Amino acid sequence: MTGFLIQGVSVLGASASDLVIRDGFVVAAADGTEDVVDGSGLVALPGLVDLHTHLREPGREDAETVETGSRAAALGGYTAVFAMANTSPVADTAGVVEQVWRLGREAGLVDVQPIGAVTVGLAGKQLAELGAMATSAAGVRIFSDDGFCVADPRLMRRALEYVKAFDGIIAQHAEEPRLTEGAQMHEGEVSTRLGLTGWPAVAEEAIIARDVLLAEHVGSRLHVCHVSTAGSVEVLRQAKARGVRVTAEVTPHHLLLTDELAASYDPVYKVNPPLRTASDVAALRQALVDGVIDVVATDHAPHAVEDKECEWAYARPGMLGLETALSIVLSVLGERWDLIADRMSRTPARIAGLDGHGTDLAVGSPANLTLVDPSARRVVDPAELASRSRNTPYSGTTLPGRIVATFLRGEPTVLDGKAVK
Ligand code: DOR
Ligand code: ZN
Repeated sequence: MTGFLIQGVSVLGASASDLVIRDGFVVAAADGTEDVVDGSGLVALPGLVDLHTHLREPGREDAETVETGSRAAALGGYTAVFAMANTSPVADTAGVVEQVWRLGREAGLVDVQPIGAVTVGLAGKQLAELGAMATSAAGVRIFSDDGFCVADPRLMRRALEYVKAFDGIIAQHAEEPRLTEGAQMHEGEVSTRLGLTGWPAVAEEAIIARDVLLAEHVGSRLHVCHVSTAGSVEVLRQAKARGVRVTAEVTPHHLLLTDELAASYDPVYKVNPPLRTASDVAALRQALVDGVIDVVATDHAPHAVEDKECEWAYARPGMLGLETALSIVLSVLGERWDLIADRMSRTPARIAGLDGHGTDLAVGSPANLTLVDPSARRVVDPAELASRSRNTPYSGTTLPGRIVATFLRGEPTVLDGKAVK
């Protein structure tokens, strides 16, 4: 075990002080054995927690592995990520979630917490072994068919009932399948102009409205993945005001990018749910500040070159997120460090019941933290990303902020902006 004395760092935006970590925890004072890190000009945040990451292992290790995705996460300031279940085979059994969990521990760069599938093979027909996944070594608490919607209302009800017993969560990819058949982008003025089949906002809003009613009826916990429309925000606002146990996430790309980018026909902008309009973006930003949307989650979706550098209609949806998320949020929210820590670390950790993450970095806290240089600027070069894939929508863009160091239980995973292993 090592120790670090981070000198003159601003903890969560407070005035500069020394931050000492030793033997995995934040401690009160240095004892002279620590390595010294110059923290001047840097902000310390609790390590970021991503509730929505696609790591692609098992099955598409050519696009990402648990290890490469973990390294991308650490470089993005994350200390914990929740790995989506749409792998091959699907993470719908205790065996697969334990495999992902073990690969994460072996990589040792972030805490990888597997999400279990709601239905067998994500097929939406029968419930997966939710209980066996919950009691496995992976200790799964969040279940999702992400990539697909649990569209059958009876199955959704059963899933909510099942996880209530252990305070689990169903994380829904809200997309009414009949309303989005053949959809290529947001349905609106731009899709009409381009002649591409539209994905209407109501396909998301209708499922969220249904699911908050089901969650209310059952008294169970619902989490809404990647909220993308102003109308969804209004449904969530009303549900929360009534006391429904619902939480929601927004991605960095839905906070910044709009459907106008589809006019380039560059599939790097193809994502599900699709990029929406500027007024949706404005509503999502406001909802994140208000807390109607609880967290930022990346929906980091690595794809191999052949699945992205092709015709728009054939390209897979999804974009990279882990290594740029904090920069995007910083550009959207500004240096509101407490708000950023809340939406990217504290609240996701609380939603997931993840101990030791999302702390206030007080003495005695586990040393899961990241150091950010807010004054740095960087030009995104896909070739420099740690992810095995290259599908970032920010190639060549200058972004604010740089992750200088990340510590997982007191051990550095990133130092001087570089991965330690
Ligand atoms: O754009 C997306 N990509 N949306 C999803 O729901 C799934 C994801 C993926 O797995 O690539
Ligand atoms: Zn999704």
